[in-house]
Amino acid sequence: MQELGTTLSSFIINEQRKLGSSAGGTFTGLLNDITIACKGIANLVNRGDLAGVLGVTDSENSMGDVQKKMDLIADQMFIDALENNGHCAGMASEEQDDVIHTSEGKQRGHYLVTFDPLDGSSNMDINMDVGAIFSILQAPEGIINPTAEHFSRPGTEQIAAGYCLYGPSTMMVLTTGNGVNGFTLCSSIGEFILTHPNMAIPEDTAEYAINASNQRFWEKPVQDYIADCVQGEEGPLGKRYNMRWVAAMVGEIHRILCRGGIFLYPIDERNREAGGKLRLLYEGNPMAMIVEQAGGAAYTGYERVMEVKPNGDPHQRVPVIMGSKNEVMKVMEYHKNA
Ligand code: AHG
Ligand code: MN
Ligand code: MN
Repeated sequence: MQELGTTLSSFIINEQRKLGSSAGGTFTGLLNDITIACKGIANLVNRGDLAGVLGVTDSENSMGDVQKKMDLIADQMFIDALENNGHCAGMASEEQDDVIHTSEGKQRGHYLVTFDPLDGSSNMDINMDVGAIFSILQAPEGIINPTAEHFSRPGTEQIAAGYCLYGPSTMMVLTTGNGVNGFTLCSSIGEFILTHPNMAIPEDTAEYAINASNQRFWEKPVQDYIADCVQGEEGPLGKRYNMRWVAAMVGEIHRILCRGGIFLYPIDERNREAGGKLRLLYEGNPMAMIVEQAGGAAYTGYERVMEVKPNGDPHQRVPVIMGSKNEVMKVMEYHKNA
């Protein structure tokens, strides 16, 4: 008989034991709630049109994005999974205007969870990669209904972060601040099994990901860096680059964790007033924690993403430049020299 392998729950229980954490049980329970949401979403994403989950709704989220049917379904699945088992004190979702309180009468736990329930949702209707991103913070003591202010904490305070990639296989990638581990969903037993222990991002790369159609809006340092990449071995960077754009941050960051690379969604003339395109709490901070824990770097161009001071708005945006450490630091040099 084939060996079962290490399941995500047993991995977390063992990790908590090693750390001597007294909160081990409830933290493991919280991660279990998240994996239940992700398994449910994976099932629907996988069935696609057979499950009637493609297409758009007639609503928009607070950032003005038209919500896909699956954005709303995935959002509700996260909320249901998180509020039913008493591990979570409050939630903030990319798809909800306000932070979400645990319903009256339900038990409240020790953690705050922020999530992007369906990342890359424009890929949903074309059967391409989508994902989910989440971040976990310790809940403040003695607060029954946490407010936006309680979620507005720098990324350095995250105690765990992860993403689930719904690709050819469904994968959960997780950090609790002690490295990054990847688990593949085994559909026959319904469990995430450890397949990618200690994921490490190569320090060097010649692969970049940026939406090049925005080129004319970029700031000079990004203009200069990409222009130098395009010149390949004849340019100042002295190597031939490759480019990829999945249009789902989960897909880009997963590729970078597997083989290196750099992902940029920089500040530009269109998004300057908003502060960037991607969301600090739902995308920037969790992905920055994962990338740094895998040995990579995550900056805005000016500072570490995880040190960006939250402004109290749970939908705050942030520019991101993250991935292979030496390449990210090279882009930082372009910013310093500008
Ligand atoms: P979401 O689907 O959660 O709104 O996120 C989409 C984000 C990110 O995942 C992706 O890298 C980027 O937006 C794609 O942007 P473009 O539309 O510029 O391709
Ligand atoms: Mn997203
Ligand atoms: Mn989303």
